[in-house]
Amino acid sequence: MERTYIGETGQHAGETVLLKGWIDVRRDQGKMVFFDFRDMTGYIQGVVLPNRAAEMAEAVKDARPESVIVVEGMVNKRPERNVQADKQNGDIELEITALTILNKAEPLPFEINIDTVDVNEEVRLKHRYLDLRSVRMQRNMRKRDEVQKYIRDFLHERKFIEVETPMLTKSTPEGARDYVVPSRVYPGNFYALPQSPQQYKQLLMTAGMERYFQFAKCMRDEDGRGDRQPEFTQLDMEMSFVTREDVMQTNEALLINMVTKLFPEKKIQQLPFPRISYKDAMEKYGNDRPDIREDKNDPNLLAFCWVIDFPFFESTSKSDNPDAQGQWTYTHNPFSRPIEEHMDNLMNKEAVGNILTTQYDICLNGFEIGGGSIRNHSFEALSKVFELLGHEAEAIEKDFGHMLQAFKVGTPPHGGIAWGFDRLMMLLLNEANIREVMAFPKTGEGRDPMMNAPSTISDKQIDELHIVLKKPKQ
Ligand code: AMO
Repeated sequence: MERTYIGETGQHAGETVLLKGWIDVRRDQGKMVFFDFRDMTGYIQGVVLPNRAAEMAEAVKDARPESVIVVEGMVNKRPERNVQADKQNGDIELEITALTILNKAEPLPFEINIDTVDVNEEVRLKHRYLDLRSVRMQRNMRKRDEVQKYIRDFLHERKFIEVETPMLTKSTPEGARDYVVPSRVYPGNFYALPQSPQQYKQLLMTAGMERYFQFAKCMRDEDGRGDRQPEFTQLDMEMSFVTREDVMQTNEALLINMVTKLFPEKKIQQLPFPRISYKDAMEKYGNDRPDIREDKNDPNLLAFCWVIDFPFFESTSKSDNPDAQGQWTYTHNPFSRPIEEHMDNLMNKEAVGNILTTQYDICLNGFEIGGGSIRNHSFEALSKVFELLGHEAEAIEKDFGHMLQAFKVGTPPHGGIAWGFDRLMMLLLNEANIREVMAFPKTGEGRDPMMNAPSTISDKQIDELHIVLKKPKQ
């Protein structure tokens, strides 16, 4: 017999069906045994009636909650007085005629048919495959998938293509510490895991893709926080021949359409999204990710805003001499372009501290959920930025030669953005922590208790990688 999904059993009243899934709950009531069965489509109650008790005794004996089963039975309409209108399949019941256990579950380390949010997180993460079975975690994973699908469709309809970029790459200047991977073949050389695909996506513009996006894994070796993970996902995007306005409009439309379609219970506070200058945000809210919600108690209120007009450079010394190389550092991204009115200042190294960048950040309820800019696609102007940052000509060539080279062979003007996708999902799903919207996150201290990572490697591996440990392995 073919499998029927539990969510579709209602269409089979009066028929025999074959269900596959898990035992959610078992209740022994006198001569009858009741079960709630569960598959990815929902729940149904089943019962072993007294007239079958003897023939099914053996199977029923071992039928513990969370065991995987195949069950055959007759779908019966419930009498009016037994209908549970508030429950899925509350008007039917499965009269069980056969039950086979495919995989028996031992007692679990924690209960999963309740919300696991209060269970010790170390234990949840150690047994994440169980935690993910819970209703809330299933909802979070499935909603995340729905949002990803919506975004992919939306962008494909607008001529974007998804391109994968490498994991084994070279350090990029995103401001955090790199995770590095030692090379076996090139002793003493290391790959870096990408902090973002920034340089690749710009080079894809040189490569004529024109509109790129990717759900990109990014790795940053920084201390954990509720809204930060060492490994996280960006919705990364880059577009050719666009202005700041084009990128902001595209992203604003995507956010509004996605929320309206997939989160109809949510209310967006203000349309179009308000725009606040960095200066005003700092003066009014004391930070550059302002929480502009009018009602902070409303879990369904989404107050998006853009923050723009960031200073490009920050002084690292007290001296005001713009020729003092190395006294400036970039605030966001060295590849950004200054706003057009300030281009001359960059080229002449004048009033450097006042140069504004085309950077735009998107904030939601007090969190920075994304950021990007129009890029500096001119060889001369980008070289000037690196000079101002104090890079020697030789270092510029070594670190960024490939970018500068690309900007001499026909690179269109371009710009883009990256969303912190986990952070956005955390806010849309009213979770307090991004770990709740990731399938296999690290703990706040950067460990994976399930895989037991990070962990030591064998002496042979260490040797092959030409590594000498400073301290003996623990
Ligand atoms: P940025 O570094 O601002 O920009 O990153 C973009 C967005 O990613 C999210 N984010 C994080 N989320 C979880 N854990 C982390 N450790 C973490 N770090 C950042 C934030 C942030 O707004 N290449 C540029 C984008 C561009 O210019 O197009 C970049 O990576 O929500």
